[in-house]
Amino acid sequence: MSNTLVILGAGGDLAGRYLLPALTRLAAAGELPPEVRIVGVDRGPGSDESFRDQARERLRRHLPDHDPQAAASLLERLCYRQADVTSADELATALRDLAPSTVYLALPNRVYGDTVAALSRAGLPEQTMLVFEKPFGTGLADACGLNETIRGGFGEHRVFRIDHFLAKQTVLNVLGLRFANRLFEPVWNNTHIERVDIVWDESLGLEGRAGYYDHAGALRDMIQNHLLQLLALIAMEPPTSLSERDLRDRKVDLLRAIAAPGPARMASATRRARYTAGRVDERDLPSYTDEEGVDPARGTETFAEVTLHIENWRWAGVPFRLRSGKALATDRREIAVHFRPVPHQPFATIDDQATRNVLRFSLDPDEIAVEINLNGAGDPFELEREQLAATFARQQLPPYSLLLREIMQRDPTLSIRDDEAEESWRIVEPILAAWTDGTVPLEEYPAGSAGPAR
Ligand code: BG6
Repeated sequence: MSNTLVILGAGGDLAGRYLLPALTRLAAAGELPPEVRIVGVDRGPGSDESFRDQARERLRRHLPDHDPQAAASLLERLCYRQADVTSADELATALRDLAPSTVYLALPNRVYGDTVAALSRAGLPEQTMLVFEKPFGTGLADACGLNETIRGGFGEHRVFRIDHFLAKQTVLNVLGLRFANRLFEPVWNNTHIERVDIVWDESLGLEGRAGYYDHAGALRDMIQNHLLQLLALIAMEPPTSLSERDLRDRKVDLLRAIAAPGPARMASATRRARYTAGRVDERDLPSYTDEEGVDPARGTETFAEVTLHIENWRWAGVPFRLRSGKALATDRREIAVHFRPVPHQPFATIDDQATRNVLRFSLDPDEIAVEINLNGAGDPFELEREQLAATFARQQLPPYSLLLREIMQRDPTLSIRDDEAEESWRIVEPILAAWTDGTVPLEEYPAGSAGPAR
């Protein structure tokens, strides 16, 4: 079979922002085999030349420090075919003679159903892999329907569901820290841990992505997938091995144990908000509703916060708060594990809150740090707060490069399995329903602020 990667939606943001830079980084690392060809497919007219020119421009923008030789090697592998990806005939014509090894759906999730139906009739070779982005489908019913079509037409073994957070260095280090050290696992439970905050605050605004984002919103864009995956890794039981089956079985067990907030708790356990005009990183941002392509009537949230509980022996009673927002004052990307206070404190003068141990997995910069209390340098009976920190060298391959390599090697360990995708929708679906029917008000926060007021 050929070694041809077909990117459907090649003119879109994902291809430009993530996939082309990731392929260039793979080429620079000598990990893009010379026979790999990349075919971009999109609705608009174009030629190999115009696609290469566009790719050159996008690399300049999204990977400014790229290796020129690697970029040249990538550009010469590119070609372009025009097709409506939801039409089986047009796809069959566009992909004729290509026998693609991989078809990457870099498309808005709401066209997955029609695209998969078209692909199943387009006469792909038996071994072609399909790659889906997150969120997988638009809701539980849609994801179950997609999985059904995939099982019927392709088989689960031919599918990758991408969640690039799983390939982030600090995220993978949750596994190392938890399961390769004696120190942490004995205290990894509700006896010692009081709460866990998983926070993904971004200063970035919409960045011209209204076509996708205005249909998604923060809950579907970040919490349904990325942050629930972080939660699964933080809270799952120890896997027997890191094989794709053991690891994904443990994650799905954990997701199954999460109870979505019931109607009585919905208003206190969830928050949604969207940004109004403001200034972030010395840039003026318009109100979300004034951004090009946004339909204010959709009531899309740019900030979401959800507190979840895990109903099992290890975690009963421990709140897990998941929060993500756009156009916020500062970038804060971390998992913070807050420990309970010591049972008895012999130091007299201390603020109990300020001395609780916190273990932080920070992403950007990548660091794991434990906040501890030690005797002070001046008065030894006054405690001082210190950190035990491990910082990491820059990840050699960025997440998308790592995942593209795994796809080429047909290793699904970091891919989301069908049942995981469905479980994640099961958790957020009641929240989406309560938000749609107005049970939880849509708050506002100025761009550049810390988010909606408490
Ligand atoms: C994407 C979301 O999946 O992840 C974006 O669609 C978000 O809205 C992004 O900004 C964050 O990931 P990263 O790796 O770019 O920080």
